[in-house]
Amino acid sequence: MTNSDYLWWRDGVIYQIYPRSFMDSNGDGVGDLPGITSKLDYVADLGVDAIWLSPINVSPMYDFGYDIADYEDIDPIFGARADFDHLIAEAHQRGLKIMMDLVINHSSHLHAWFKESRSSRHNPKADWYIWKDKPADRKYPNNWASAFGGPAWEWDETRQQFYYHMFLKEQPDLNWRSPDLRRAVFGSIKFWLDRGVDGFRLDVVNGYFKDAQLRDNPPRFTLNPFTIETQRQQRIYDCDQPELFDVYREFRALLDSYSERGSVGEVMSDDPKRVASYVGKDKLHMAFNFGFMHQPWRPLAFQQAITAWDSAVASDAWPCYVLSNHDNPRHVTRHGEGPFADERAKVAAALLLTLRGTPFLYMGEEIAMRSPRLARNDLADPYDKQLWPFHKRRDSSRTPMQWDDSPNAGFTSGAPWLPVGSNNKIGIAAQQDDPNSVLNFYRALLKLRRESPGLRRGKFHPLIEKPVTAMLYLRETEEQTMLVALSFFGHDTLAPLPAGQWQRRLSTHPGGVISAGTLTLAPFEATILELNKV
Ligand code: NOJ
Repeated sequence: MTNSDYLWWRDGVIYQIYPRSFMDSNGDGVGDLPGITSKLDYVADLGVDAIWLSPINVSPMYDFGYDIADYEDIDPIFGARADFDHLIAEAHQRGLKIMMDLVINHSSHLHAWFKESRSSRHNPKADWYIWKDKPADRKYPNNWASAFGGPAWEWDETRQQFYYHMFLKEQPDLNWRSPDLRRAVFGSIKFWLDRGVDGFRLDVVNGYFKDAQLRDNPPRFTLNPFTIETQRQQRIYDCDQPELFDVYREFRALLDSYSERGSVGEVMSDDPKRVASYVGKDKLHMAFNFGFMHQPWRPLAFQQAITAWDSAVASDAWPCYVLSNHDNPRHVTRHGEGPFADERAKVAAALLLTLRGTPFLYMGEEIAMRSPRLARNDLADPYDKQLWPFHKRRDSSRTPMQWDDSPNAGFTSGAPWLPVGSNNKIGIAAQQDDPNSVLNFYRALLKLRRESPGLRRGKFHPLIEKPVTAMLYLRETEEQTMLVALSFFGHDTLAPLPAGQWQRRLSTHPGGVISAGTLTLAPFEATILELNKV
């Protein structure tokens, strides 16, 4: 491969920003677009290629932006359209692409479309949402449950009908079977493409269509008493319907009519085959495989998740990988924190950034930010609140970015909307000049990935069939062979080294010795070697 076929969404690395928590420029305690623009140099210096912004559209914030009340405007809490235009221009000047979050499975109940739709049974938008009469023989139209708990149907007094909401009742689902609705949504997508947006992350991308007959989902057996209703159903009728592919085809054709646009879908599924079925030509550019993200700290578990995903994604498609996002505790916390948290964070970074597939980083993971324990009174997220005390997944990953050790970690001069994590030592300022910091390790990895065709595009070959302490794999193209060795273990461990002259390109333990046939790895060592071609 040559540099001329470098495609940002395929060869690059994408950095997720949760705008409420990145940088606050006006002291209201909530991050905003001018705040993000002021930190673009930091993001560009890190060495990533693109930024995915969690939603910034007008929203009453019942689900913190994932409930959109105007698809074509920016919420005043984040700024104005002019601030967004400025952000795009400044990002582009630094070689950074911008992806927006496209939340088009549902809107806010305060969107003008829903207000009109619910005003009567006979208005031009009456069928833009999913409405159903009260059944004679049961309480709700069917057994579908809300992903946030409780039934997915809400009674509307005016229409004397139920409407369907896959998430909160303040997030009614759009009816993608309405041609007018579909046209209106595509109009808004085009609106942002014309303003220079480079791509989209599509929320709940396998949910747009529900079974036309609204059939009941069959039950699913589980021994876990803490699951919510959606996890006790086989979700065969409220998502993953075949009509989706026609929408993807139209979406892809629209993106392809512009130059170098990209997309990534959030698929509600841990099944790599199902997720992969949505990616490729005429479909999405990429989709998240959350199966990888939820692995325990064991090399075999990760390796199996990678090989399953690698083989599920078709040859005309491209995988991507993510370890943390705004919906789950950060991976450093999930992997156990403790005295070796930073060491494990480096191993995880080396894994994520050396796989065959586009890595997505979640803001703050480059400094190994933890997910702090939050008190009940600190919670803002409706999902966390509803399921307290069993569920503390989302707010803890959304706490403000830790820039330095000033009050509120330099995030705001006001009162932050969520508490700042207490561990200031991990702030960016403290790590900037420390050659051994997690931050500088991320920077070195990002640089090496960018420079190495093997790491960007090479085939993935695991070298140990059933790894117990360390994972070893090759990333190979015709021109380059790279070897990645990752110790998941707190003691020295020996790993088999294939024949050849290996040169150390990057390591958490740069002094280590490479002897023929064996690589000795220190506890939690991450080392990347390159084969000298003769
Ligand atoms: C997935 C998003 O990541 C999550 O934050 C949101 O609550 C739901 N979709 C509903 O939009």
